[in-house]
Amino acid sequence: MTTQKPAKETRRTAMEPNSHTEALKPPEDSHTLRPDPENLFTNSKLNREILRGLAGRSIVEVRDYTKEEVIELCKFAAILEATEVASSHPLDGKIIITAFFEASTRTRTSFESAILRLDGKVISIPDEQITGVKKGESLADIGEMFNAYGDLVIMRHTETSSTDEIRKNLRVPLINAGNGSGEHPTQALADWYALLKWNPLLASPGASDKPKLHLGILGTPGSMRAVKSFLLMSLFFGENFRKVTVVSEMADPLGPELEEEIRKAGIEFEVTNDLQTIVSDLDVIYMNSIALLGDSYKTLDSRYKLDQNTPLKKDAVIMHPLARLDELDTSFDKTCHNLYFSQAHGAVFVRQALLVSLLDRLDRLPKNIPIKGN
Ligand code: CP
Repeated sequence: MTTQKPAKETRRTAMEPNSHTEALKPPEDSHTLRPDPENLFTNSKLNREILRGLAGRSIVEVRDYTKEEVIELCKFAAILEATEVASSHPLDGKIIITAFFEASTRTRTSFESAILRLDGKVISIPDEQITGVKKGESLADIGEMFNAYGDLVIMRHTETSSTDEIRKNLRVPLINAGNGSGEHPTQALADWYALLKWNPLLASPGASDKPKLHLGILGTPGSMRAVKSFLLMSLFFGENFRKVTVVSEMADPLGPELEEEIRKAGIEFEVTNDLQTIVSDLDVIYMNSIALLGDSYKTLDSRYKLDQNTPLKKDAVIMHPLARLDELDTSFDKTCHNLYFSQAHGAVFVRQALLVSLLDRLDRLPKNIPIKGN
């Protein structure tokens, strides 16, 4: 009897492995979770029609994606993580403006890395102080100028209203890279890319062995944009959660709109200020450092730190959009609870997938990419 060769090996010979991903492997002595991207696309081709539907659109909040688009973008990211595509120059000739009016480590550099690795060009504005804003120029006027200078704008700003303001005149697609206490929809995409690689069953509606997870949120989704976007995207995948618990010292950490969204999704949820009582029941813990409160910010309450003494479930995963302060002890970095580095590293590939789709460059991908549709 002959043994069939696993699909994984066949695919490796058909597609050139991505040389950039070697550096993402954790050190030898680490148990850090770095799920294999092939978990997400084995036995399933990309749906060109769904991805094509994103062409020319803006992504300002999580509601700007559908669940099907999120799954397809994550599958696409997984293929990009596993495959060398630079030689086909997918973004050749495209100019992307990264306009960061608020500080960033990960979002701006991962977007710029994504663009450069796909052979696009970047006009990088890393600081508001080097723009006309310093002299009182309006975002609406800046939007009008950007129409002439780039094919797509990625903007971060301290003000929630900034996305509406720039869109008064902007006619090229906008990606919101964080607007005050508003949203951070590409962070949510990076978060869910890490989760789907960790457990691809989360994206399979009919799977009999589907997980029923208890999701714990440490923080205030109503004033933490990354937490809010993560929670909103998690509602797309609500059938995987038996319960959502928000741990916060605030009486109303969600706000009425978000609470209504969770109720509509039919998921049991609870708000508590007692982490110790529930932490050992949590399967996925999402946390963040700071809540934006107008011009100032508030750090996570000292009761909600995770450290070596926290009684986590054996298989629980910790997610954090980073940057962290002392709420997440570095002793977790080399443990199997660490999904946060996977979120940060995978961000380059989901952002590549999003840019190729928004800029309608699927046709520039190498011919051996597994994609179906015209
Ligand atoms: N996750 C995130 O938004 O990080 P930065 O603030 O460094 O961009």
